[in-house]
Amino acid sequence: MGALRRVDKNCACVESIIQSNGGGKDSLISILQDVQAEYHYLPEKALRRVAKNLGLPLVQVYGVATFFKAFSLKPRGKHLVHVCLGTACHVRRAPAVLAEVERHLGVAKGETTPNFEFTLETVNCLGTCALGPIVMVDEKYYGQMNVGKVKKMLAGYKKFSRPKRDEKIKVSA
Ligand code: FES
Repeated sequence: MGALRRVDKNCACVESIIQSNGGGKDSLISILQDVQAEYHYLPEKALRRVAKNLGLPLVQVYGVATFFKAFSLKPRGKHLVHVCLGTACHVRRAPAVLAEVERHLGVAKGETTPNFEFTLETVNCLGTCALGPIVMVDEKYYGQMNVGKVKKMLAGYKKFSRPKRDEKIKVSA
């Protein structure tokens, strides 16, 4: 299940992440990546602990956390579903694919399922227009999508376990 994971009272998990990254100020991005992989977002409590342990102003930690699109300050689901609505995908019926994903997940774009299994977002281009419509789930691309393929694509993710901490996410501004 993808239930929302909360930071424990002593921040033991966050402490362990900080230490496994060497505990230095230059490891901030790496630490935030690992915190996000663990919780699927960056909880305020974790950011406060990271700032304290690294000896950085909280505003600086928030600055990094909000600068990179890959980071989220809002709780997100275990799996991140991106439906591309860029022009190339749009003309190949991406809106219908999005509507079908919304129907299966029971949420609209920008929302997270109540069990924190999936977060649904849209993007303007995933850089593989020739294969559109494209849907990306976590790090995997699904090309030439259509309404009929949505159910099977999502069903596979209900069996998947939580991503491992050492599976780094790609950070792009
Ligand atoms: S418009 Fe969808 S991948 Fe480029």
